[in-house]
Amino acid sequence: MQQSIGIGLAGLGNVGAGVFKHLQANRTLLRERLGLDLEVRRIAVRDSARRASEGFPSALLTENWRELVEDPSVQIVVEVMGRREESLALILESIARKKIVVTANKALLAEHGREIFEAATKYGVPVFYEAAVGGGIPIIKALREALIGNHIISIHGIINGTSNYILTRMQEAGLSFPAALAEAQAAGYAEPDPAFDVNGWDAAHKAIILASLAYGFWVPTDKIFVEGIENLTSADFRFARQLGYGIKLLGIIKATSSTPGSEIEVRVHPTLVPEKHVLASVNGVFNAIAVHGNVVGETLFYGRGAGQDPTSSAILCDIAEAAEALANPRRNLGFMPHGLYGCCKPLDNILSEYYLRLCVEDRPGVIAKISGILGELQIGISSIFQPEADEEGSTVPLVMMLHTATHAQMRTALERIGALDCVCKPPQMIRAEHFS
Ligand code: NDP
Ligand code: HSE
Repeated sequence: MQQSIGIGLAGLGNVGAGVFKHLQANRTLLRERLGLDLEVRRIAVRDSARRASEGFPSALLTENWRELVEDPSVQIVVEVMGRREESLALILESIARKKIVVTANKALLAEHGREIFEAATKYGVPVFYEAAVGGGIPIIKALREALIGNHIISIHGIINGTSNYILTRMQEAGLSFPAALAEAQAAGYAEPDPAFDVNGWDAAHKAIILASLAYGFWVPTDKIFVEGIENLTSADFRFARQLGYGIKLLGIIKATSSTPGSEIEVRVHPTLVPEKHVLASVNGVFNAIAVHGNVVGETLFYGRGAGQDPTSSAILCDIAEAAEALANPRRNLGFMPHGLYGCCKPLDNILSEYYLRLCVEDRPGVIAKISGILGELQIGISSIFQPEADEEGSTVPLVMMLHTATHAQMRTALERIGALDCVCKPPQMIRAEHFS
C-alpha cells in the first residue's frame, strides 16, 4: 500500500487550474516515480459556486483558505493565489503548522523572503519556489543544487515572458504596445496586474530571488535598479539593429569578484544585446538565463518563462520534492543564508556602456556641444551616427554609443545634454551589455 500525500491548493486561476489538471493527468507517473500518491484534498478560491459550475469538484472547494491550513490531511500547501497579505499569512500559518509550502509568488518572496525563511528555519519546514523564476526552467534547482560548488560571478537573464513577448511582437510584427500586451494577457502570461510585467518589477522580483539564492542574503528591494520597457520606441529598435544590437529587458546580477565579501549589483532594464549573443535570439514568451560560475564557467538555461503549462511543470517538481522531503527531512530548506556576501554596490557606482538617442536641431555645432559635455565628464564616444529624419523638419535624430561610465556620470550627462537649447526632446538612454 503506497503512502498518500495530501495537497491543499490555494488558488485555482491560470496557474492553479493547470496544477490541478496536470496533477490528475500525471498522477500515475508521479506515483511510479516517487513511490507516493499525491492527492489534492482541498482547494481555496474566492468564488466556489462559479468554480464548481466549471466542473471542479465542489467537495474540495472552499472560500476560506484557513481550512487548508487547518486540515490535518493536508501536508503540502501550494500557494498560487498571487496576493500579498493573504498569501503571506497563508504561508506563515502553514509553516507554523509544519506543512511544506510550494509557492509561485515571486513578489511575495522578493519582499518577504527573509521573514518566510526565518519561519521555515524556526519550524524546520522547507519552502519550494521553482515556478517563481523562469516559468518551466529549473533555474532554482540548478542554483541550489547543480551549481552548489560555484561562486556565482554573474547572471544575465531574460526573466519576464510578457515583456519579451511584447518586445518580440513589436519588433517582428510591428504590433503596437497595447496590442502586444493584450495578446500576452490572452495567452495567460501576464501578471494579474500587468503593470509589473511592463514596469520591470516582475523581472526585478525574480532577479532579487536569483541574487539572494546566489549570494546567500536577501537583497533589499531598494538596493536594486529597475527600469521597464514603457519608453522604448520603434526608432530605438531600428537604430539598435543598425548598430548590430537587439533590445531585451535583462535582469543583470554580478559580483565584483568571486572573492567572498565582494559587492554585488542587481539591476533590471532594457539592454542593448549584441545580435551575435545567444540572449538576443530569445524571443516570444521564452526566457533564458546565463549563469557564470567560477568552476563551471558559462551555462545557459532556456525555456518557456510564463503560461499555465510551464509554470505547472515547475510546481509539480516542487510538489514531488516536498513529498520526498516529508519522508526524508533535509537541512537545506530551500534557502541557505550565509555571511560570505551581504553588500550591494551603491547604484550610482554601477558601470555600463550606453546607447543615447537625441532629437537635435539640424545645424552646425550641435555635435560639438554634446561631445564637449561628454568629454568634460570623462565619458568616451565609441560610435556616432545621424540617421535620416523620418519627416521633413528642422530636427534630426542623433544616435551615439558610449563607453563605460557610472550611472552617476550618465545621470549628470543626461541632465546637462537635456538642458541644451539644441536638444529638442528628453534624451533616450538605454544601457548596453557586452558580457565580458
Ligand atoms: P489568477 O489571478 O489567474 O488566479 C488567482 C487564483 O487565486 C484564483 O483562483 C482566485 O480565486 C484565487 N484567490 C485569490 N485570492 C484568494 C483568496 N483570498 N482566497 C482564496 N482564493 C483566492 O493568477 P495566476 O494563476 O496567473 O497567478 C497566480 C500566482 O502565480 C501569482 O503569484 C503569479 O505571480 C504566479 N505566477 C504566474 C505565472 C503565469 O504565467 N501566469 C507564472 C509564474 C508564477 P477565484 O478563481 O475564485 O477568482
Ligand atoms: N508575468 C510573468 C511573466 C509570469 O510574464 O514572466 C511568469 O512569472
